[in-house]
Amino acid sequence: MAARMLPSEKDPIGPEGTATVSITVDGHAATGILGQSIAGIIMAGERLGFRQTAKLDRPRGVFCGIGVCFDCLVEVNGLSDVRACQRKASEGDVVVTARDPQPRGGAA
Ligand code: FES
Repeated sequence: MAARMLPSEKDPIGPEGTATVSITVDGHAATGILGQSIAGIIMAGERLGFRQTAKLDRPRGVFCGIGVCFDCLVEVNGLSDVRACQRKASEGDVVVTARDPQPRGGAA
């Protein structure tokens, strides 16, 4: 076994048990494992794009997965610009996927 491989029961970032958490994403119910990120729950629903770019209307989702790139921004419970990869889902969270604000002077 490689030095970095851990048995799943010793993995410090593993799931926090088998309890589930239920959220809504754009009005659709989604269920994940307690402790799972919002991005993880969205992607488990086979959706990779969380927002659309203003200029070219292109989808963006998880790129870095570590909170650096801001490609995974969503709205959570009315709070905009939440990084879905960094936010653990809480029971009842209402997630709305985002669209970039239009640049000043309108989209090019
Ligand atoms: S994927 Fe890069 S900040 Fe979330």
